[in-house]
Amino acid sequence: MAGRTEGADLKSVSPNQPGKDYSRYFQPPSLKEAKKRGKADVQVHYDFAIPEEMAGIGRGKHFLIRTYGCQMNEHDSETMAGILREMGFAQTDDEREADIILFNTCAIRENAEDKVFGELGHMKSLKRDNPHLILGVCGCMSQEEAVVNKILAKYQHVDLIFGTHNIHRLPVLLRDAMYSKEMVVEVWSKEGDIIENMPKLREGSIKAWVNIMYGCDKFCTYCIVPYTRGKERSRRPQDVIAEVRELARLGYKEITLLGQNVNAYGKDLEGGSYGFGDLLDEIRKIDIPRVRFTTSHPRDFDDRLIEVLAKGGNLVEHIHLPVQSGSTEILKKMARKYTREQYLELVRKIKAAIPHVVLSTDIIVGFPGETEEQFQETLSLVEEVGYDSAYTFIYSPREGTPAAAMEDNVPLEVKKERLQRLMDLQNRISLEKNLALQGQVLEVLVEGESKTNPDVLSGRTRTNKLVHFVGDKSLIGKFVEVRVTEAKTWTLRGEIAAKVEV
Ligand code: SAH
Ligand code: SF4
Ligand code: F3S
Repeated sequence: MAGRTEGADLKSVSPNQPGKDYSRYFQPPSLKEAKKRGKADVQVHYDFAIPEEMAGIGRGKHFLIRTYGCQMNEHDSETMAGILREMGFAQTDDEREADIILFNTCAIRENAEDKVFGELGHMKSLKRDNPHLILGVCGCMSQEEAVVNKILAKYQHVDLIFGTHNIHRLPVLLRDAMYSKEMVVEVWSKEGDIIENMPKLREGSIKAWVNIMYGCDKFCTYCIVPYTRGKERSRRPQDVIAEVRELARLGYKEITLLGQNVNAYGKDLEGGSYGFGDLLDEIRKIDIPRVRFTTSHPRDFDDRLIEVLAKGGNLVEHIHLPVQSGSTEILKKMARKYTREQYLELVRKIKAAIPHVVLSTDIIVGFPGETEEQFQETLSLVEEVGYDSAYTFIYSPREGTPAAAMEDNVPLEVKKERLQRLMDLQNRISLEKNLALQGQVLEVLVEGESKTNPDVLSGRTRTNKLVHFVGDKSLIGKFVEVRVTEAKTWTLRGEIAAKVEV
C-alpha cells in the first residue's frame, strides 16, 4: 500500500502560510488525478493492524466524530471510531471533553460544504481553550483541491486533513498531527486498495451497514462522487457473506448493503459474471430478518436482480431507484444513460415481479438548460411511477464536473419554485400512499423511543416507513405487528396488534 501517492500534485496547491515547511506531511488532492481510471488490479488486504507504538496512545483520552453526507460516510465513521477505540480512545459527544474531533464531510452540494465550513469556524474558540485538541477534516470534501486550499488559507486551526482512501492510515496520521506543529495533509487521489479487517465501532445493535463496493464509475455529469471515492471496487463475495453471517450471529436484525451503485457489483471481480443478483441470492439464505440495499442505478438493474428480489423472504420490498429527471433530454445531459421510457419500463417490470413493492427516488431540479416543459416531464413521471417518497434537490454546480462547465441558466428563483412544486406533488402522493395503509397490520422492527416522546416507540416497516406507537421499552430490537391508525405524509401512527418473535 505504501507508495500509492500518485495523486499528489504539490504544484497545484500554494499554501498561504509563508515560512512553513509543508514538504513532510503534505500530500494534497488533485481532481485531475481523481478522474483517471486505471486498469491496475485492486489488492485486497487482510492485515490491518494498529502499529505497536501507537496502540495505547489514546488511553484516558476521548474522540468525537461529526458525520455529514450519505450512509457511506456514516459507515466510514464507524470504521474510524473502531480504529480510535483500538488505540485506546473512548467516544464522547461532548466537544469540551474531546481530545480529537474529526469532521467526516460531504461534498455533494454546495450547502453541505457551507455547513461544514461554518462549524469548522466555530471550532476556533474551542481550539483556543484547548490547544492540545486535534481537529481533523476527512471525508469527501478533503478530496477536493479547492477545499484543501481554503482550509490551508483560512482555517489554520485545523491540524489534520486526510482523504477517503487514507482511513487506514489514521493511526500514523494522528501521531504525526500530535507531534508536528504543521498541518498534516494526506489525501490520495488515486483510490486505495480494499482493506478488509479494519475494526468497526457500530452505532446501535439492531441495524448495521455492510459495504459491498466502493467508488463509482458512472460519472453522471453533475456529480462529484466519482472524484472523491475513486473507481468501482467490489469486495469479494466471501468477505461480504462472512460479515453478514457474523452480524446475524451477533443478533443484528437488519443490514443495509452499501454502494454508490450496488447494481454494478461484481463487474470488476475476476470473471465478471458474478453480479449483485447472485450476491443477494446468497445473502437471502442467511438467517438475518431484513436485508436492504442502497443505491441502485437504473442502468445496471438487470433481470437476474429482479428475479432474486421477487423471492422476497428477508429481501425487503423497497427499492430506492434514483431517476434524477423525467426528461430524456436532461437525462442525456446528465449522462445517466437511460431514457424516460427505459426507466418507466424498468419500473413496470419491477412492479410486475414484486407485489406491493415500494419505490423511492432522488430528483434534481434546475439542471443547466432545464426548461419548464422538461420539468413538467419530471412531474408527470413522478405521478406515473407513484413513489412513496423522494429526495429532491436543487442542482448545485460542483467544481471539476462536466456540468459545472455548462451554462447554469435557470434562475435560482425558478429552481426554488420548481422544487416547491415537485415537493407539493410528492407530498400529496406520499400522503395518499400512507392513507391507503390505514387499518392494515404491518410488521415493524422497533428501533427505539420516539425522538419527541419517551412513552412512544418508533420503528420501521419492511418498506422503510417510520411508525410511532405506544409500547414498552422491552420491545426495542424486536418485531411487532402494528395496526395503522393514522397516516401522515412522512410517518404513520399505530397500535400494537401482536408481538412477533424472530
Ligand atoms: N450514488 C447514488 C447517489 C449519491 S448522491 C445514485 O446514483 O443514486 C445522492 C443524490 O444527490 C443523487 O442521487 C442526486 O440526486 C443528488 N446530487 C448529486 N449531485 C448533485 C448536485 N451536483 N446537485 C444537486 N444534487 C445532486
Ligand atoms: Fe454520482 Fe451518478 Fe455515481 Fe450516483 S451513479 S454517485 S449520481 S456519478
Ligand atoms: Fe457526500 Fe461523499 Fe456520500 S459527497 S453523499 S459523503 S459519497
